[in-house]
Amino acid sequence: MSNTPLRVLVTGASRGIGEQIAVQLLDAGHSVALTARTASDLETIVAGRSNKTLIIPADVTAPQSAEDAISNVVSAWGGIDVLILNAGDGSAAPIENTTNKIWEDSIAINLTAPFQYLRACVPTMKAAGFGRVIVIASTAGLEGEANVSAYTAAKHGVIGLVRSAAAELAKHGITVNAVCPSYVDTPLTMRSLEAAAKRTGKNFEDVKAALVAKLPGARFLTPHEVAAAAIAYIAKPNVTGQAEIIKGE
Ligand SMILES: NC(=O)c1ccc[n+]([C@@H]2O[C@H](COP(=O)([O-])OP(=O)(O)OC[C@H]3O[C@@H](n4cnc5c(N)ncnc54)[C@H](OP(=O)(O)O)[C@@H]3O)[C@@H](O)[C@H]2O)c1
Repeated sequence: MSNTPLRVLVTGASRGIGEQIAVQLLDAGHSVALTARTASDLETIVAGRSNKTLIIPADVTAPQSAEDAISNVVSAWGGIDVLILNAGDGSAAPIENTTNKIWEDSIAINLTAPFQYLRACVPTMKAAGFGRVIVIASTAGLEGEANVSAYTAAKHGVIGLVRSAAAELAKHGITVNAVCPSYVDTPLTMRSLEAAAKRTGKNFEDVKAALVAKLPGARFLTPHEVAAAAIAYIAKPNVTGQAEIIKGE
């Protein structure tokens, strides 16, 4: 990675994969703007750091969230080199129980917000002739799994966004890539397992063990591994439009 500090914005930076991305970038000396809805969690991550940091409390699904966050970074630091679109969420339900709200919430956070943040940073990246946009998608963006139709549709959509944006922006020195992890040991996964246990009336530990057993490495990925795979795209100038599956050994 470059020795010059890069100006990076990470969405959903307060826990799980996003926290690890922020920590690894801070450890590497970069200037990091962190967004999530809970400012206090973000303050804890940057406490004691000598890096340039910005705390931007924001709901990525709110109107103007993207424009406000990007202009905040550009005003403070004069530009933005790297945008990491990590904030995401999803709730499971069979199709007939997938309400309009479940559907719309999933599209809003996993597809519309990444689009709006990407759109908002394109002018400044184009002007600089450089940019790295990295989306934390999911294997659900490339494969189908039962009971997660809204999340799967949104993640398939965001990979379409990545591929189209990559084709459009390459000539401006901007790469756009996605990493597509399988299950990761994060609060989101634990919430999903709790919901599955409740839905099926099974014990949480049994539901968790059954899921782990069907994973390729018979283990969850760590947030650290996924963060490292995402950050690696910063140093890949000629790679764009990828949707890299990360499943563990
Ligand atoms: N965990 C997995 O197994 C897995 C697998 C594949 C892909 N992914 C993807 O990886 C990404 C991160 O997942 P994770 O497991 O690390 O999730 P997580 O543990 O639930 O963390 C989500 C992060 O996003 C923030 N966030 C949530 N809703 C937000 C909103 N509306 N506006 C702004 N920030 C918001 C949260 O902070 P606040 O609550 O304070 O806002 C938190 O910092 C997601 O896109 C997810 O789809 C996860």
